[in-house]
Amino acid sequence: MRAACELAARVLEYAGTLVKPWVTTDEIDRAVHQMIIDAGAYPSPLGYGGFPKSVCTSVNECICHGIPDSRNGDIINIDVTVYLNGYHGDTSRTYLCGEVDESTMQLVKVTEECMLRGISACKHGASFKTIGQRISEYVDEYGYSIDPFVGHGIGKIFHSEPIIWHTYDYEPGYMVAGQTFTIEPTLSMGGTQCTLWDDGWTAVTVDGSLTAQFEHTILVTGDGAEILTMHPRAWINQELPGVMSYA
Ligand code: MF3
Ligand code: CO
Ligand code: CO
Repeated sequence: MRAACELAARVLEYAGTLVKPWVTTDEIDRAVHQMIIDAGAYPSPLGYGGFPKSVCTSVNECICHGIPDSRNGDIINIDVTVYLNGYHGDTSRTYLCGEVDESTMQLVKVTEECMLRGISACKHGASFKTIGQRISEYVDEYGYSIDPFVGHGIGKIFHSEPIIWHTYDYEPGYMVAGQTFTIEPTLSMGGTQCTLWDDGWTAVTVDGSLTAQFEHTILVTGDGAEILTMHPRAWINQELPGVMSYA
């Protein structure tokens, strides 16, 4: 798990360096694919439930699972999952492409903070419900919507139990040291209603409002959680002052 997650983090960081106006999401997909193959791993999304590409790139109003095509946009979530030596590592972040206005920067910053707040609720014996509670309380201060996508258990299987809600929920259950799962909130500026494109994957907001997402794979420990997909250099973000950084 550690090796897979570290590779996912390095691939995501590299993918982020490619985000610039006029660079297509298809180019990002090709570069990510190559880096994963060169590392002796497999891009988990490719062929997963028929998904046609190696990475998810979700631009602007696209919430998640965007299929790379040829779009250029203002904010873009890149979601990398690698399968290395029998284990999956899953991580994503939202990058700024070109000039981005203040309110959009705030959405991106608050989304990252929500993911971190969720992570901070995790330790052996904690209730899964506290993740969604902590995130929801914070989002309420800004009036953003939390989209109905969930995190998931991960390890030898890409998506497994437990389901990780980012909203208030009634899911029972408590965390156990040694468990690995993702926390991956998606926040929209507008409403929570979403719809799927005809491709069966691309999830977008109905009102066209911008959305952002961040994701880490974490390991529950006795007194907290370890972020397995954290790559130190990935956290120095000079373009987003105020975003917590861990370098
Ligand atoms: N990486 C996504 C997640 O966070 C799942 C992508 S599935 C795909 O769970 F098929 F769209 F790639
Ligand atoms: Co992911
Ligand atoms: Co995930």
